[in-house]
Amino acid sequence: MSSHNIPPKDLLTEHKEAFRIIHERGPVCVLTGAGVSVDSGIPTFRGTDGLWRQYPPSLFGHTPGLIFTFACFPKWFQSFLRDTIKTFVQATPNDTHTLLATLEQQGLLSGIITQNVDQLHQDAGSQHVVEVHGNFFRSVCKTCKRQDTLSKDALRAFLNELEGQPLGRIKLFKKLKQDLFTCPSCGGARRPDMVFFGDPLDTSTWQEAICLVKHNKVMLVLGTSATVYPVAELPHIAREAGATLIEINPTPTALTPFVDLYIPDTSSRALRLLVDDERHC
Ligand code: APR
Repeated sequence: MSSHNIPPKDLLTEHKEAFRIIHERGPVCVLTGAGVSVDSGIPTFRGTDGLWRQYPPSLFGHTPGLIFTFACFPKWFQSFLRDTIKTFVQATPNDTHTLLATLEQQGLLSGIITQNVDQLHQDAGSQHVVEVHGNFFRSVCKTCKRQDTLSKDALRAFLNELEGQPLGRIKLFKKLKQDLFTCPSCGGARRPDMVFFGDPLDTSTWQEAICLVKHNKVMLVLGTSATVYPVAELPHIAREAGATLIEINPTPTALTPFVDLYIPDTSSRALRLLVDDERHC
């Protein structure tokens, strides 16, 4: 291990404490946010290199904003599509995703609630994943409600069209409709199966998240600023139900004052230390 990877001594104490809590009170339920996918090359939303810096949420974070941006700034809209598709298509699971899947296999983790739409938890082998903000690779027909998977190959082919010159709004609209967003069953319009600002959460998905939160004695919160509701409410629901809260994040968040144990570390490094049994002997 390089010296770069060795955390200060006091951090090891916190990792040991988390290890003890998880083994004594587990299995845990986990809440993840954008920070866990940083090592896979996906930027966070609110960090200095965050998505919202280049593509502000007022224009790109909700449906009316996206329609406005498409109509008024088609070139900007095209770069948003290109950058997001490229990022998601290229990403592969990192140590955090793999180690969480390992914890589940060891019976120490009963489920992951994720705000991420990148599908990397499932790609790493996690079985019980509750996607509260949807999935980038899924579309849903607005008319017949049929759900489909958008294959990485189809997205890569579409990406090729976006890489060159600006297409202009008419051609871009036609391409989007023809290549991605027409329902093969009813011919209706499909939309990405993701929750944008102002959209309600899927009721049964939310119920499943609440159930996980209430049925575990430990909640591990990783890589989220814990600022977006209603998801940011989940750790507080867990706490009221008597759960121990552990947060791993290099930067303190809105949740930090309420947790039982805060580990100021990246999720990959902290989990490597947590899962490595020998360090805890
Ligand atoms: N390991 C752990 N945490 C990290 C790492 C890392 N390597 N790198 C960054 N972080 C932390 C940051 O310190 C920050 O607290 O990840 C958090 C990312 O916060 P946000 O960008 O706000 O992302 P998130 O909390 O997932 O956003 C919630 O907001 O815009 C909406 O729908 C979107 O699901 C998203 C929701």
